[in-house]
This record gives sequence, C-alpha cells and structure tokens, in this order.
Amino acid sequence: MIKIGVIGYGYWGPNLVRNFAELQGGTVAAVADLDQGKLDLVRRRYPAVKTTTNFHDLLSDSSIDAIAIATPVSTHFELGMAVLRAGKHLWLEKPMAETSLQARKLVDEAQKRKLVLIVDHTFIYTGSVRKMAEVIKSGDLGRVYYYDSIRVNLGLFQRDVSVISDLAVHDFSILDYLLDEHPVAVSASGVNHFPGTPENLAYITLFYSSGTIAHANVSWLAPVKVRQILVGGSKKMITYDDLEPSEKIKVYDKGISFTDDPKQIQEMRVGYRTGDMWAPKLGTTEALRVEGEHFLDCIANGKVPDTDGRLGLRVVELIEAATSSMRGRGETVYVRAQEKAA
Ligand SMILES: NC(=O)c1ccc[n+]([C@@H]2O[C@H](COP(=O)([O-])OP(=O)(O)OC[C@H]3O[C@@H](n4cnc5c(N)ncnc54)[C@H](O)[C@@H]3O)[C@@H](O)[C@H]2O)c1
Repeated sequence: MIKIGVIGYGYWGPNLVRNFAELQGGTVAAVADLDQGKLDLVRRRYPAVKTTTNFHDLLSDSSIDAIAIATPVSTHFELGMAVLRAGKHLWLEKPMAETSLQARKLVDEAQKRKLVLIVDHTFIYTGSVRKMAEVIKSGDLGRVYYYDSIRVNLGLFQRDVSVISDLAVHDFSILDYLLDEHPVAVSASGVNHFPGTPENLAYITLFYSSGTIAHANVSWLAPVKVRQILVGGSKKMITYDDLEPSEKIKVYDKGISFTDDPKQIQEMRVGYRTGDMWAPKLGTTEALRVEGEHFLDCIANGKVPDTDGRLGLRVVELIEAATSSMRGRGETVYVRAQEKAA
C-alpha cells in the first residue's frame, strides 16, 4: 500500500483525496491545510485520515511515501522542494511553479533523488485527449495544420495568477501531448478589465517550425461556458467539445486538396472533400483516477509519468513566454528549442 499525504484542501484538493481514497494499492494517510474548517470537512468525510495545519507533520511521517500539493501556485516551489528533500514522491498541481527556474530546480531535485515527480495536467488523462493523440499519432489526421481552442466561462477569477496560467495552461499541456514538436515562438494579447488584478482575457498564438499554428482564446469573463477545440489536418479534422455528455470527440473526413494539373491551372484548383463523420468511443474513467493509478504505477515500477516534471517545465516556459508577449502587446517571443524525448 502506497500511503499518500495531501497538502491543500481548498477547491481542487478534495477531488484528489476522493480519487486517491478509491485507489487500489494506495491510501490517503493524512491531509494538511492551514484552515481548520477545511480539516473539519476531511474528518467528517474520512474519519481514518489524519489532519494537521502543519505540513511538516506529513514530511516527518515516515509511513507516508508520496505527497500531493494542491495549494496556490506561489507556494508550489517551497512546498515541492520540502517534499522532495524529505525523500517523498511528489504530485504537484498545475502549473508546477511560478517560474521556469523554480520548475527546473524541482525537476533536478527529483532526478537527483530518484523520486517520481508528476505534474497534474489532468486533461492528458481524459479519454478525449488520449483519443485525439491516438488519431494524430496514427497518421489518420495527416499533417496537423492548426489547433484552435476556446476555453471561456464566467470566473473563477484568481487573485494571484492570470488567465494564461489558469486556463491556457491546459492547452499548452494538451498541445505538448498531441504534437511531437515544441513551439518556436509565441504571440499573446490580453487585458485585465479590473485594475490591480491579473489579466482575465487572453488570445495566445503558438507557432511551430513545421508550419502548424495553435491558438487559444481564454477568458473568465464570458456569459457561457465553452470548452471547444478544433484540430485541422491534411486528411481529417477533429472537433472536441468537452461539455458534450457523450460524443465529445468527432472525427470528420473533410478537407481540401489542391491540384497541380496544368490543364486546370486557369480554373479553381481547390477541391473540397466532405466524407463521413465518426464519433469514437472514449474511455470514461475519471481522469484523476487514471492519473492516480498511473502515479502509483510509476512509484511501484520506476516509470516516468506521462506528465513528468519536464513536461511541467515546458508548460511553465510557455506561460512565461506568453505572459512576456502579452505585456509587450503581442510582440513575438521566441521559445527555447527543446528535445521532446519520450
Ligand atoms: N488540475 C486541474 O485541473 C486543477 C483545477 C483547479 C485547480 N488546480 C490547481 O490546484 C491548486 C490549488 O488550487 P485551488 O483552486 O484548490 O486553490 P484554493 O485556494 O481553493 O485552495 C488552496 C488550499 O491550500 C491551503 N494552503 C495554502 N498554503 C498552505 C500551506 N502552506 N499548508 C497547508 N495548506 C495550505 C489553503 O488553506 C487552501 O485551503 C492550484 O495550483 C491550481 O492551479 C488544478
């Protein structure tokens, strides 16, 4: 039995505890939160779980093998380092740190100590994103022309991070998982409509050397919730609506073809293809459950998580690049070249 401690029982922490509590081969041993009221909730729901307002109690408990951190981003580095230095495997919420320097130090520390570091980029463990990756990697989609995402709703306004760090982070991790390449440049525009608060709306464009272009529109100031992604390829196209109850992913056999036939050169050289639509069957297990099982498997069998610290670091670098571009009113920011070794 792998014993897990959780630090932070605010909005997201309860989802972690609920899923970890149901894992075979793992159990929640203790929860830490600064707020006694939150700990009262833990005790009522999970009477066997120890609670404390001092996270050091989890670090010094030798029976705890792994610790998950679900506290505000500004605390991730300090808490994450403390967990690794206590010799425990680490589950870190997204984004893994405020800066890429901090993220790199966490990656190095975990590597040095041979500890598992998983970053909770939850979407990567959904049936939808896994199916999109399958279709793209099988070659069925052809060359990826574009990725276009709308991720908007009303709230939750964050006080400490911008909408890029809160919402676009999902697109950055999904893109990292879907594509074999890393962007070469970023351009972003954004605005805070309320003085003294982080940007609540942003449009981010990522450029890839292959010619693929990706765009994300993220906002906390929309009247309705929209979670839609289009991926256009040279052979097929995908739509992904995360709010659809069943057919979230649809693969369309649609596209265009250009002819080089000199006889047709004076005519319209473009042909439109409109074939079938296919809604593939998707895995329905809750993503956090899949991710929790994967975390335990990595700990037990020395595997590298699908969302390891290096993926988390690449995402933080994109947040930095997009934020820098946004503060420069959309100026192009070049991204450090990366090997995306498996
Ligand atoms: N993976 C996802 O899809 C997803 C979704 C939502 C939030 N998150 C991430 O989860 C993290 C937490 O977000 P949230 O919305 O739950 O925040 P929150 O503010 O609702 O909760 C944070 C909790 O951490 C506690 N806390 C803060 N510092 C602490 C410390 N030193 N020791 C013990 N407890 C401490 C607070 O008392 C609070 O209860 C963030 O990194 C956020 O980005 C991830």
